[in-house]
Amino acid sequence: MSHLLDYNEVSKSYDSGRTASDAHLLKSMMENFTGKNVQDMDIIDIACGTGNYADYFKQFKPQSLTLIDASEGMLDEAKAKLMSPLKKPRLSFKKAILPEIPYEDNSFDVGMINMVLHHLEDHPDGKSFPTVIKTLKEVYRVLKPGGVLTILTETPENLDGNWFANLYPQITKRYQEKLPTHKQLKEMLAESGFSLKSALKTLWPSYLPDYEHLEGPLEESWRNVNSYWTVYTEAEIQEMIKNVTQMKNNGSLQGFYKMHDNIHTLGTYEIFAAKKELK
Ligand SMILES: C[S@@+](CC[C@H](N)C(=O)[O-])C[C@H]1O[C@@H](n2cnc3c(N)ncnc32)[C@H](O)[C@@H]1O
Repeated sequence: MSHLLDYNEVSKSYDSGRTASDAHLLKSMMENFTGKNVQDMDIIDIACGTGNYADYFKQFKPQSLTLIDASEGMLDEAKAKLMSPLKKPRLSFKKAILPEIPYEDNSFDVGMINMVLHHLEDHPDGKSFPTVIKTLKEVYRVLKPGGVLTILTETPENLDGNWFANLYPQITKRYQEKLPTHKQLKEMLAESGFSLKSALKTLWPSYLPDYEHLEGPLEESWRNVNSYWTVYTEAEIQEMIKNVTQMKNNGSLQGFYKMHDNIHTLGTYEIFAAKKELK
């Protein structure tokens, strides 16, 4: 699995650049499409990272919160953040490597998968996503009938509207190949048994608070919070730094940003909600 070791390292600084962006939208979709309030739900956060999304849900006291991730480091951060002496919600944390979800059939009212799909394929080709399909089938299995899955993910289309992904479209293609398109994801959800309830794009830089910091690509700490930059080789990073510095010095950086920023149309990421219908 890609980046597993990195995430043990990343866990130490992950929260400096990431929050539970748009968590309120997930809650709204989950309640709307299950017909239940969060207080009455058993929730699983799949590849939970440091538990930012689970932590958002914890304040509403669901019945239970289950957090799984492949990285011990991320799980340890999540435990430190969420552990409390209160009886509700019941909390559990487990190391698990997707596509496996080590729980009984019909265990959860909702599952969420946030910013994870780009990690799942070892040899991405942009065409088939066997591990994503297996993961979706596993989620379907562990959800109760009437349960809902939300997926928050970048799609290749989103990247087309991201100004810094347009600096080197050929390199960006490597990242885009890791990501199912909007259409592919809808097809995979259907193949896994789900019926799609909603698909929306967030038309502002919700998870990239410093998106408009045009000198960001020059700064390692700015790049480090976004896996997009992991597809660059070190030599390509150096080349990019040289070119962006040149654009900054000759005054063309702002114009480049204006020409290539289209997230108000193409979105920063997409949120899908799909249901395991009652038979
Ligand atoms: C970008 S982080 C997202 C974390 C969290 N969902 C969030 O949005 O804050 C990706 C997470 O996926 C986990 N991960 C990557 N591949 C995985 C796999 N095959 N199985 C389980 N977890 C995985 C990583 O350890 C990391 O915690």
